[in-house]
Amino acid sequence: MKKTLLALVALLLTVSVQAKDYAISTPNTTLIVSADKGKQLNFRYYGSRAEASDVRAAGRMLKHDAYPAFGTRCDMPYASLVKQHDGDNAMKLIVESVEESKAGEVSKLTILLRDVAHPTLLVKVNYSAYSDCDIVKMNTEYINEGKKPVVLQKYMSAVLPIQSDNCVLLHLDGTAKNECNEHIEPLTNGVRVIATQAGSQIAKYNNASFMLGLDGRLDESNCPVIAGSLVWMGNFHFEFHNTYMSKAPTLFMGGINPAASDYTLAGKKSLATPEMVFTYTTNGKGEATRNFHRWARKYQLLDGTKEREILLNSWEGVHFDTTKENLEPMIKDIAALGGEMFVVDDGWFGPKYPRNNAVSSLGDWGIATSKLPNGIRPLIDLTHRNGMKFGIWIEPEMVNVKSELYEKHPDWVLRHPDFEPSYGRGGGQLLLDLTNPKVQDYVFSIVDNLLTAYPDIYYIKWDNNMGMHNAQSLYLPKALQSNLQVDFTLALEKILKRIRAKYPEVVIQLCASGGTRLNYGFMPYFQEMWTSDQTDAYHRILIQWGSLNFYPSNMLAAHVGSAYSKYTQRLMPIKFRFDVASMCRLGMEMVPAKLNDAERAYAKRAFAEYKVIRPIVQQGDLYRLISPYEGDKNHTALMYVNEAKDKAVLFAYRLIIKEAMSANIIRLQGLKADAKYRIREVAPEFENKPVKISGKVVSGRMLMQEGIVIPELTVRYKSNTELNEMRATNDWRSVILELTEVK
Ligand code: DGJ
Repeated sequence: MKKTLLALVALLLTVSVQAKDYAISTPNTTLIVSADKGKQLNFRYYGSRAEASDVRAAGRMLKHDAYPAFGTRCDMPYASLVKQHDGDNAMKLIVESVEESKAGEVSKLTILLRDVAHPTLLVKVNYSAYSDCDIVKMNTEYINEGKKPVVLQKYMSAVLPIQSDNCVLLHLDGTAKNECNEHIEPLTNGVRVIATQAGSQIAKYNNASFMLGLDGRLDESNCPVIAGSLVWMGNFHFEFHNTYMSKAPTLFMGGINPAASDYTLAGKKSLATPEMVFTYTTNGKGEATRNFHRWARKYQLLDGTKEREILLNSWEGVHFDTTKENLEPMIKDIAALGGEMFVVDDGWFGPKYPRNNAVSSLGDWGIATSKLPNGIRPLIDLTHRNGMKFGIWIEPEMVNVKSELYEKHPDWVLRHPDFEPSYGRGGGQLLLDLTNPKVQDYVFSIVDNLLTAYPDIYYIKWDNNMGMHNAQSLYLPKALQSNLQVDFTLALEKILKRIRAKYPEVVIQLCASGGTRLNYGFMPYFQEMWTSDQTDAYHRILIQWGSLNFYPSNMLAAHVGSAYSKYTQRLMPIKFRFDVASMCRLGMEMVPAKLNDAERAYAKRAFAEYKVIRPIVQQGDLYRLISPYEGDKNHTALMYVNEAKDKAVLFAYRLIIKEAMSANIIRLQGLKADAKYRIREVAPEFENKPVKISGKVVSGRMLMQEGIVIPELTVRYKSNTELNEMRATNDWRSVILELTEVK
């Protein structure tokens, strides 16, 4: 009897000390935290879909503070640091309540934490999971219930403890014309920080996305991988802590960059931190990429499942010389090649100071009549008469000192009042101060006026060519200067929401000297992004390959430029340039009249063929086959497969030539092993002479297990000299193959 009583007491004790597990799941993954009122919130598990009991039995339950705050374990990494109005900066966060909810495909866990020392400060920790994609999201919300302000000094969005001490990190770095270089390296001991501080050019120098291979490797299709990306439009900060404790040897934290961003949160106010999206898979980084792409197309990217048009952009062709004489032939020529849209880039505006270079006119969005005496209406009409849509370039967040806008409103810019600002492009460019409500109205009015005057504008290219050099606001009071980075980002979001509320359909391309804004935060407002100004097709492969790790092909604009790349001083044949641009959203950026007859005929065929493969390229699942970053680096290949797996498109490239080079075996992926596929070359170099494998029928099993060989990609095969007049070397050969299941 005594024994039973003791056992009962022991059981009661266990029940009362054991916090409740809360799990949310996606089709293949589960995330578990445990919460107990008055106690620390613990992170327990993020991995393959499982019951809590199974995770526990396998010894895979972690016990790690789910949102560590500076205060109790000051020797450990912390996600939160808050200075109270009395100067106290220590916190102890305990669970106040847990709420479980479901809306559509998303189940959500909201845990409210309260600070013991300053009970008017609360932090909400949110976790959500999609029932139809392997994506979970995390973010936090700081709530100041007190009357006095508090200062948030570190306010991370997400904390992810990882039970591996042997991680391999994939991350992207780079800048304009050299974006998204892929790096894969061991996560060595210590703290690894990846961050940016260029303001809304969030991807300048580093991209806010990563992958971690958890078993000492990062294979394409067979290893556990966690990948994450921050959904934000401002400075970001990732911390990877390695081996600071045995229970969770790797700890990730990510969110807004706290550097120079102490955020004063007024009494009775709250601040939601940006979401981080994560995916987990045991099927390698290829599956992690596909998880992100599927989710982005369905839930994050505006019009993510709509097809994108083939366009000609005027920039590389004529730069600032956007005269009627230059543009009209371009419109007719791209229409004749099969283009679907014409976009006038920089140079068309500036009534008082015509925009002839980067030195003037930003801010003055009237017509430069010296170049376009009758304005843009005749261009729009000509474009329409040629059966195409019309688009136009703006850079609405900026001003040039040489502009009517600056003459009127010199106080609308970001700068310090007491010293000369650092100028951007052209030596006279400044960022408008978006925290100022008058500036917000003005930026909105640029788009609004344009679309009111020309409701048939279908597409806008929204450029941004200056990072936040001068992080000082003439609008915010001195005491709130360090709110600028966050408030500026929130103001930008507010403007974009306002534009989208009135103009939900206009297609807007985001550009920031190329891809320095490549991030999930912009996706709800922009259908696509300009991947890079880099026109060298080889360099483009590296950039596109890097970008595709996280960002889907239909949002990555890729244009065929002229044969000679001014940035690398390399010459590339037209087929190679087309085949590289065709792996994303295809367009052109040159003067089409400069093509010779053979090239023009080829371009026409290539555009027509792209329309055939477009649904698979823009909506299919991506499989990376041979990396341009690894191995011999002489070949690279990737493919897209549609959902039914009955259609696929393979892109194969031979890069630098080597003597006695043998044809590479390309093992395909993502097909049905038991199906048979007919192979057809897309836009062959010689019109009636496709590569030998074209027309063959091969089983999915053979294609995937043994692979194919395309001998024409080796040195021995002659190329079409008419198409390659400008070819300086015999490098740069490519083949696109379409695969269709034979039923
Ligand atoms: C930078 C962009 O990346 C280019 O494509 C072009 O639009 C120029 N700006 C125009 O100034």
